[in-house]
Amino acid sequence: MTHIVAARTLPAARDGVAAMSGRFAGRIGLVTGAASGLGRDAALALAAEGARLVLFDRDAAGLAGTQGHCAGAVAVTGDVSQAGDMDRAAAALDTLGPVTLLVTAAGMLGPTLPLAEVAESDWDRVFAVNVKGTWLALKAVLPRMIAAGGGAVVTVASGAGLVANAVFPAYSASKGAVVLMTRSVAASHAVQGIRANAVCPGQIETPMLRGVFSALGDRAASVEATFRARNPSGRFGEVPEVTAAVLFLLSDAASYINGTALPIDGGRLA
Ligand SMILES: NC(=O)c1ccc[n+]([C@@H]2O[C@H](COP(=O)([O-])OP(=O)(O)OC[C@H]3O[C@@H](n4cnc5c(N)ncnc54)[C@H](O)[C@@H]3O)[C@@H](O)[C@H]2O)c1
Repeated sequence: MTHIVAARTLPAARDGVAAMSGRFAGRIGLVTGAASGLGRDAALALAAEGARLVLFDRDAAGLAGTQGHCAGAVAVTGDVSQAGDMDRAAAALDTLGPVTLLVTAAGMLGPTLPLAEVAESDWDRVFAVNVKGTWLALKAVLPRMIAAGGGAVVTVASGAGLVANAVFPAYSASKGAVVLMTRSVAASHAVQGIRANAVCPGQIETPMLRGVFSALGDRAASVEATFRARNPSGRFGEVPEVTAAVLFLLSDAASYINGTALPIDGGRLA
């Protein structure tokens, strides 16, 4: 079978040039997980379209790399699972102005073990980062969005939050929680002009995915080939393909889309 890689409509060039126009001109928001992968690219694309951002991640060096390409951005180094760290992000948002955008991309995979073999500490950590971290970001931003008269949230969940994942059961459970937390926000806060949607990527070419394969050692090539073959598109996704969906859901073009959990997976869950 021949797999055709569709032409992609990429967001505006991420060249670090101050963007005074675009879908997000003058809008202010928080991006977690901004040092790498999907969070980094969403931040670069939002900034290229005029948003002013607080960039949050535990990786200070990576964060500085992103900040250097996001005009007017403020970087806050911290752990999404720590309320005090998120308070610092909230304080940074208050220096910028009314907050109308949130992207929660910080996340971790955790152990590749059957559920009953997962250590309590690993279980707690996966839920602390993926679930509590998303909640703390929402807790920081929602009151500010309400005060601003509305806004748009995109959480980065996973296809593993929509269907069972036998390899990463703790991760799958945590991402399922992210999906329903997001839908709860949609149901609770639509009346205040807030939309909340989750994106549910399949396998996307990021450092996180590469880490999965490198941990497999000699088996990496065959497992990667199997994963690719399982996907109707015959390939993994590229980061800008997720970013395009994140920016659409944040944009006014998605004004009546609220509470959805959008697979971005080349048809894997079709
Ligand atoms: N890459 C994929 O195939 C894929 C698929 C589905 C969902 N996702 C989700 O997308 C999101 C982004 O992942 P990615 O693939 O870009 O991975 P990545 O490893 O490139 O980026 C994740 C970022 O989150 C940050 N982070 C992790 N734990 C943190 C913490 N406790 N506090 C602050 N920052 C923290 C990391 O430092 C890193 O910068 C994650 O939530 C992940 O679960 C990724």
